[in-house]
Amino acid sequence: MIKNDLFLRALNNEPVSRPPVWMMRQAGRYLPEFRAIRDKYDFFTRCRTPELAAEITVQPIRIVQPDAAILFSDILVVPQAMGITVEMKENQGPWLPNPIRSAQDVEKVFVPDVNETLGYVYDAIKLTKQMLNDEVPLIGFAGSPWTIFCYCVEGKGSKSFDTAKGFCFSQPEAAHALLQKITDTTIEYLKGKVAAGVNAVQIFDSWGGMLSPVDYQEFSWQYINQIVEALSPMTKVIVFGKGCWFALNEMGKSKASALGVDWTCSARNARYLSGGKITLQGNFDPSRLLSPIPTIKKMVHQMIDEFGKDNYIVNLGHGILPNIPVDHAKAFIDAVKEWN
Ligand code: CP3
Repeated sequence: MIKNDLFLRALNNEPVSRPPVWMMRQAGRYLPEFRAIRDKYDFFTRCRTPELAAEITVQPIRIVQPDAAILFSDILVVPQAMGITVEMKENQGPWLPNPIRSAQDVEKVFVPDVNETLGYVYDAIKLTKQMLNDEVPLIGFAGSPWTIFCYCVEGKGSKSFDTAKGFCFSQPEAAHALLQKITDTTIEYLKGKVAAGVNAVQIFDSWGGMLSPVDYQEFSWQYINQIVEALSPMTKVIVFGKGCWFALNEMGKSKASALGVDWTCSARNARYLSGGKITLQGNFDPSRLLSPIPTIKKMVHQMIDEFGKDNYIVNLGHGILPNIPVDHAKAFIDAVKEWN
């Protein structure tokens, strides 16, 4: 049994003394201990070496002490396993030298044996579980099919992902074939993570907000929902769609256990749109961690008062920024523990 089970209780809609808290991208560059490892090993070496991935995962648990750990890895290990070359350029982000742009390109993409291609992730989970010693739960994750598709087609990060959207609108059949292959791989990948020991999974739809509400249903949600349907019998699933407030109603009717919201949606609106019962997670503006510590604490307390202590998981509205002072990150977490 997990000693600190606040996070799991919130996912189960059970009452809590205070809401649990963790931060998206909590294993990251704002921590000097993370940067020390980053200076020695390149990005995918860190992902592929279980000892490094496990160590990076537990760093925030020791330093800022959130109520859940999230495995250090990346959403782009999935397209890598599907035969697509993915590089991580220092200070620039993902780089895919051979982006998918045609039906022939899609045909070459395969649904891999996840144990063969992603076994290193499962080894990292097993090692992390040993290191955590059941103190806090471990979250596993995957990108949403749409968000993975965005990188596969665009070939790099983008402000608008026009090329990825253009591929959907001009070659919908090929786009759907690729989205389905990513979905099938992701389902097997996440089942393997559960078997290896994660206590919940989160699906990151970081670029869902690039789509209109109608296109969102066709190109993102229907695939996320296949994952939710496949995984919900065996674990708790959190769906985080950045900029996807318009889909909260549909998401709230699914078998997801919690929905992530960003800071552009008020607590009141998120509760209303999602139907009022499902656990919500978020939504502190990551830039707000640059405010003075007393302001951070005051705003966190206001946020908890607005969402309510139950059916709620405190988090940022997106990943923590690299320039956040560690004591500000710690203040965010401490504020939740001090709330009453
Ligand atoms: O949350 C955690 O602490 C776990 C680790 C984690 C990483 N990536 C490590 C990482 C998680 C959950 C992710 C998910 C991820 N990766 C997403 C979805 C969440 C989001 O932020 O929207 C996306 C879109 C990616 C793709 C990706 N990986 C980008 C765009 C970048 C470069 C941008 C950046 O922040 O530098 C990465 C690299 C990456 N993934 C880093 C980390 C800690 C930084 C680079 C490094 O460590 O060298």
